[in-house]
Amino acid sequence: MIKIISVVGARPNFMKVAPLHRAFVASGKIDSRIVHTGQHYDARMSDIFFNQLGLPEPHHYLGIGGGSHTYQKANVMLRFEAVLEEEKPDLVLVVGDVNATSAATLVATKMGIPVAHVEAGLRSGDRKMPEEINRVVTDSICQYHFVTEHSGLVNLARENTLSKGIHLVGNVMIDSLIHFRHQATEESVLTELSLIAKTYILMTMHRPQNVDNEAGLLSIMDIIRRSCAHLPVVFPMHPRTKNNLKKFGLYDELESTENLHILEPQGYLQFLHLMDNARLIITDSGGIQEETTYLQVPCLTFRSSTERPITVELGTNILMQNLDPDRVMAEVGMILEGFEKKGTIPPLWDGKAAERITKILLERFHAKS
Ligand code: UD1
Repeated sequence: MIKIISVVGARPNFMKVAPLHRAFVASGKIDSRIVHTGQHYDARMSDIFFNQLGLPEPHHYLGIGGGSHTYQKANVMLRFEAVLEEEKPDLVLVVGDVNATSAATLVATKMGIPVAHVEAGLRSGDRKMPEEINRVVTDSICQYHFVTEHSGLVNLARENTLSKGIHLVGNVMIDSLIHFRHQATEESVLTELSLIAKTYILMTMHRPQNVDNEAGLLSIMDIIRRSCAHLPVVFPMHPRTKNNLKKFGLYDELESTENLHILEPQGYLQFLHLMDNARLIITDSGGIQEETTYLQVPCLTFRSSTERPITVELGTNILMQNLDPDRVMAEVGMILEGFEKKGTIPPLWDGKAAERITKILLERFHAKS
């Protein structure tokens, strides 16, 4: 048996590791273990995902919690080292670009344990984003690079990345979406909110550059108010955003907006159901740009750059360079009038990425033994 430890830390990791864990177990040749760093610890940010995605209880829970990024990473490193000493895996697998991704990679590499990075090669070019630093650090020292879109191959080549293998394999997050899409139709969240499919706007917003300052929050509130004049807006709110709205004394005013539904962070199935039926999604998330591209739902992303350019080139994503409410509302108006960007689904986003990764890893380890 090959022992693989997959590391998760924050919400966007769980749906990426779930199909990999399933494929590893199904192979009958991989002892698949999960380490949860505990960066996201709330029931609504973490537990519900484990339950809905069929992930096992983590084999190790590091209990890091919130705190500055330095605090999070330093503690992951100390505690993950002890786990690796005990487990002695053949491979550590990391996904995405959160703090756990780079911290675990540093520790494993230092201990001579190979690391595979799933979602390698993505670059926004914006080093002010903590995620960009995590991507660059991880890719520069891990051994296997599994890539979701062509731009990842170009970026890794440009950086002269040393690798035992760079493979374009598709997108494990889309594996989860395809696997759970039908099951999500049974969710009752639309009925509970008296919403009709394709007649509401879905919103998520949590990036520090948008929600850590009052000016950004005021622009977002303006956009919400003006959007609510057209259609109901559904806003599952990330804890960072809620904390900041309260800090600036804006939460109560926002909450009283007519036609706005502020929700707690949603489970995976509930949120997938909300995305699939939305008329339009306004977000600053990384992953939602890809999910809307697959679902072919119009998406406005409040970011000046994207590490996932295929969602703009082929998909339904449009970047809004700054939070100018007039420009955003002009775009919203066009979409609601039916002049929306039609997209296509990127190559290999077909639900089989985890199987491809498993096959490649088995071949590699088989060749070595
Ligand atoms: C992290 C990821 C980001 C991802 C996002 C999705 C990094 C660098 N960033 O950002 O890429 O898009 O997750 O959610 O890893 N909090 C809670 N409950 C929780 C988790 C967090 O209340 O379960 C609070 C924290 O205490 C903190 C804030 O939310 O005050 C932000 O959490 P943090 O983990 O620092 O980063 P995210 O903004 O969630």
